[in-house]
Amino acid sequence: MPVSSAKERIDELHTLIARYRDAYYNQDQTLISDAEYDQLERELKELEALHPELAENSPASGVGSAAGDVFDPVKHLERMLSLDNAFDKEEFLAWSERVGGGPFLCEPKIDGLAVSLTYENGVLVKAATRGDGEVGEDVTQNVLTIASIPHELTGNDIPELVEVRGEVFFELADFAKLNAGIVASGGKPFANPRNSASGSLRQKDSAVSASRPLKMLVHGFGVWQPEIKTQSEVYKALKAFGMPTTSRFEVFSDAEGALGFIESLKESRHSIEHEIDGVVIKVDELARQRELGSTSRAPRWAIAYKYPPEQVNTKLLDIKVSIGRTGRATPFAVLAPVTVAGSEVEFATLHNQDQVKAKGILDW
Ligand code: IVH
Repeated sequence: MPVSSAKERIDELHTLIARYRDAYYNQDQTLISDAEYDQLERELKELEALHPELAENSPASGVGSAAGDVFDPVKHLERMLSLDNAFDKEEFLAWSERVGGGPFLCEPKIDGLAVSLTYENGVLVKAATRGDGEVGEDVTQNVLTIASIPHELTGNDIPELVEVRGEVFFELADFAKLNAGIVASGGKPFANPRNSASGSLRQKDSAVSASRPLKMLVHGFGVWQPEIKTQSEVYKALKAFGMPTTSRFEVFSDAEGALGFIESLKESRHSIEHEIDGVVIKVDELARQRELGSTSRAPRWAIAYKYPPEQVNTKLLDIKVSIGRTGRATPFAVLAPVTVAGSEVEFATLHNQDQVKAKGILDW
């Protein structure tokens, strides 16, 4: 591709990525699927690799989206990073080679929103969203309403200062109940559990957050210098402090073991009580994590193995039109019920004619 067209496409990708990130992180809206978004970031990275002179100010080297102005800003004590992705076995094995092999700790990648909790002398003093990784939003009052998060740490040897990080999310059953309630009272339901968790946590009025059964699982730390050697022992220590940690992690000596975990979780992913979008694989030894370090965007010692989006075929039975309160007509599809991503689907939104053609919807 000539440099001028590459520049044009890179500019276009910057605009699209900024728009999608703002919608996702600041407005709790999903304008495209995660897989389509990942593909845009990937295209940008590939173009930048071919044209390094065009890679300045790239969103590909950044994290999240700058926080809005509803909440007070919080400067993170240590940057909150994102994760690089592997989309297939080869990409995972290449990463494993790069980091020098196992032992690896594997755990579900929770589809929620990243939050950091700061405890001073064992007391929760600050909770913040990730924002752009440098500055997040102060959601302390709302986080204090989440039942599973301790206001005070328990146990012995409580550090003077510890910052833990994790995901806030909805369990699927709670999400379904919440949406049913919203629909019953004439409101607009959330599109998915992740958006509903973000929308429920980022409320001006913490009484609204308190009424939503949010959960949290912690999966790492920022500022803290524990006398501990491995990620798995970190989880043990955090659990002893009373923090909610996943019981679904396993340590494997090599990449083959990790691949087995990835495959088996793929099969059982819908029996988990919350949504996951893959597996996070971490070098287990903290000394090696420190040696490997991070890029501006992500640690080199961890990777997210993303599952491909699930696709199924079914029969289009009818197209109906719903009329909204403002009189707007929205067509939707009535489908022969089919199970996808663990849920039975009977209705689907419809897009314009080009989308219908592109998706190969046929006359029966
Ligand atoms: S470890 C330095 N473990 O996924 C970042 N992240 O897409 C280390 N996430 O920013 C993160 N589940 O917010 C880690 N088990 C898990 C996770 C997890 C979900 C989030 C995290 C990260 C994002 C990247």
